[in-house]
Amino acid sequence: MVLKLSDGTLFQSKALIGENVCESSSGSRVEVLDPATSQVLGTVPEMDSTDTQVAISEAAKALPIWRDIPAGARSELLLTWYQLVLDASEDLATLITAECGKPKVESLGEVAYAASFLKWYAEEATRAYGDIIPPHQPDKRLLVIKQPVGVAAAITPWNFPAAMILRKVAAAFAAGCTMVVKPAPQTPFTALALGVLAGRAGIPAGVLNIVTGSINSSLEIGSTICKSPTVRALSFTGSTKAGISLAEQAASTVKKVSLELGGNASFIVFDDADIEEAVKGALAAKFRNSGQTCVCANRFFVQEKIHDRFVEQLTAAVKVLRVGPGNVADVTVGPLIDARAYKKVKGLVDDAIHCGAKIEAEGDIGAMTGNFFPPTVLTAVNSKMRLAHEEIFGPVAPIFKFKNEADVIRLANDTEFGLASYFYSKDINRCFRVAEAIECGMVGINTGMLSTAAAPFGGVKSSGVGREGGRYGLDEYQELKYICLGGMT
Ligand code: SIN
Repeated sequence: MVLKLSDGTLFQSKALIGENVCESSSGSRVEVLDPATSQVLGTVPEMDSTDTQVAISEAAKALPIWRDIPAGARSELLLTWYQLVLDASEDLATLITAECGKPKVESLGEVAYAASFLKWYAEEATRAYGDIIPPHQPDKRLLVIKQPVGVAAAITPWNFPAAMILRKVAAAFAAGCTMVVKPAPQTPFTALALGVLAGRAGIPAGVLNIVTGSINSSLEIGSTICKSPTVRALSFTGSTKAGISLAEQAASTVKKVSLELGGNASFIVFDDADIEEAVKGALAAKFRNSGQTCVCANRFFVQEKIHDRFVEQLTAAVKVLRVGPGNVADVTVGPLIDARAYKKVKGLVDDAIHCGAKIEAEGDIGAMTGNFFPPTVLTAVNSKMRLAHEEIFGPVAPIFKFKNEADVIRLANDTEFGLASYFYSKDINRCFRVAEAIECGMVGINTGMLSTAAAPFGGVKSSGVGREGGRYGLDEYQELKYICLGGMT
């Protein structure tokens, strides 16, 4: 083991299926790299369709056991797991930083965020109320009950190796479902450590199954999940292209599908905004996780009168960001996940510059090479550039100038995506007007951070369907059953 953990048993390098930790049926394993150094952190089983089918069977076997545990007892188990995750914060954060590259302080924040879903859904498990409906005939009584959908599956991304798993798993478990989780090939160790903690919390074997794979075998695993009639719900976070393919395949077995896909968030600063606050929000919304979150600000729109002042202040703030490996103290921006991500971000910046964009700030990356990309601020950008339409997923802030409210709403909505949007204004009337007019699933007003376990996370248009988090997140894992009781006297 390359990593030093205070609890070495959290470094699990075998998959979790039923009551066993296991190798792939083919015996093949795949390397996991540290994005900061490209060093091998370890290997995990490269599983395929056969292994995935075994995991689905184990989840199906465990379903009646888990479903029949009363909600209060299931809730207690989730709370025990929650506490164990918090107790292991340091080790989990070390794993997250090692596999995904984000600064340690952000990884610690992610562990707390991830754990909060266990607490939220532990509480929500006991409140999955049904309804009694006024009957349409005097001898009838009408009831609606909520039941677990059955075996569920989660396919999760590398940018939040813990939070995107627990956001899905906690809701599924609260609803009474069992689950097969396929973590991103880049970040399996955090997932497997969460699996170890689930076992210690007393979650019965087979309730949580973790199938690891490579980039190549991921397609096969995803396809097996989609085509399995046993899997009744799929929750996916990742690219729009992959989401469409999974939804198409899942259609063949008519399962519930929730998709949290790409974004192209607008970040609007109106003339009446508090500029200092807007700059703080911009740093959070753009540079967190090196710009690699689905809700990252992708396009900044700043009103003419304050444009230059905002650019000046943001530029000054970006120049002092410290780029480096996430495990070094004081680092605020880590590497991109891999060489492919670097190439994509570089391509978008090159295209913008070629089309006339001006670099206002380019962070200092010192002697670092590989996947490190300098935090960058661009002005003189326009809607013909690729970065106006494509998700950057890197630490690059393009700033567009706009004239008035009507113009900026049109510009903000000129995208196929609709996940998050942010704006800064002190005018309460404008706050409601703009929030209602922007086509997206989530709006941050005078804040650059909107995620919380208590609120519904999700998008519209090509950004996805369904919601995670909040009381709405349970719906993805429940079926409504209507019961009509007749012959009442
Ligand atoms: C994401 O990037 O998909 C998740 C971000 C968050 O939950 O804040």
